[in-house]
Amino acid sequence: MPLVPMKQILDEAAKKQYGVPHFNVNNMEQAQAIMRAADVASSPVIMAASRGALKYSDLIFLRNIMMACVEKYSKLPVALHLDHGNNLESVKTAISLGFTSVMIDGSLKEDAKTPTTFEENVKVTKECVEYAHPFGVTVEGELGTLGGIEDGVGSGQVHLTNPDQVEKFLKLTNVDALAVAIGTSHGAYKFKIKPDPDKNLLAMDIIREIHKRCPKLHMVMHGSSSVPSDLLDEINKYGGKIPPTYGVPLWAIKEGIVAGVRKINVDTDLRLAATAAIRKFLHENPEKFDPREYLAPAREAMIKIVRERYTEFGSAGHAFDYEPISLDDAKKFYRK
Ligand code: G3H
Ligand code: 13P
Ligand code: ZN
Repeated sequence: MPLVPMKQILDEAAKKQYGVPHFNVNNMEQAQAIMRAADVASSPVIMAASRGALKYSDLIFLRNIMMACVEKYSKLPVALHLDHGNNLESVKTAISLGFTSVMIDGSLKEDAKTPTTFEENVKVTKECVEYAHPFGVTVEGELGTLGGIEDGVGSGQVHLTNPDQVEKFLKLTNVDALAVAIGTSHGAYKFKIKPDPDKNLLAMDIIREIHKRCPKLHMVMHGSSSVPSDLLDEINKYGGKIPPTYGVPLWAIKEGIVAGVRKINVDTDLRLAATAAIRKFLHENPEKFDPREYLAPAREAMIKIVRERYTEFGSAGHAFDYEPISLDDAKKFYRK
């Protein structure tokens, strides 16, 4: 079963210079959408659970849904990733559940709201790397803070990543991947005005500079949902009340991938797709009440988004480019 360390998926993406979407998962239908789309697209998979998702599902349920994905799609390389771990305990829990990758978000304190100092960030990140690497588990850190607080992760203040600090952070912590703050934020409310391709939307210079200085580091763009306007229109047409808002357009993400981004985090777009489909179904079929009948179109709507992302970010077609490695192989690599 190719349950692989995330580092392998990102190393391979770096060799061929494409991006790999990270999708958050909370329930069976989301997990199936991610896998069914990956199967059709032949894409490697990064499936992520937030602390909120693990809590919602009581750990064991989500763990087993994720493991079922690995079992059913036994040929696709899949990394199971903890999103926004807030302390060593959360990292330990994820590793004990069988995750092959963890994020320690040391840019914020344990409350996931208050920004930390550089030194505090280094301390907790280093601790997590020293714990995770002997298991062969990949570690993603974060430098700089994103805006956006509606999903419970983020300070609401934006501190863009300082490339001067990255080399030092990398040397002190030995992380495999790094989330960078370049102007994105979590949730649906990223930009009030429609992004203009002729104007700088995100701080791409930061990505280019970090890539120049640390070419082996895998950069991660969080808060990268595109918030498609057709989904907002559909939600609002069937009773929703989402005010006008814009996400990160695909052209901006592609610019990031060319500049050196390897992992792109998407959660909100799947939430929007599911909500639009469920609202439409229930509006058109007010007499129906079987959850399978409205969850099936929700799953189809998520498959569509996920497939588009595999294709647009470039990971489609790359699932079988390489022999999957195990956590034991990764352990040997870290020992060296
Ligand atoms: O970055 C945060 C993800 O969108 C997860 O959100 O904490 O609501 O599960 P959540
Ligand atoms: P979105 O809210 O833009 O989907 O971002 C998700 C994310 O960054 C998860 O870590
Ligand atoms: Zn995030």
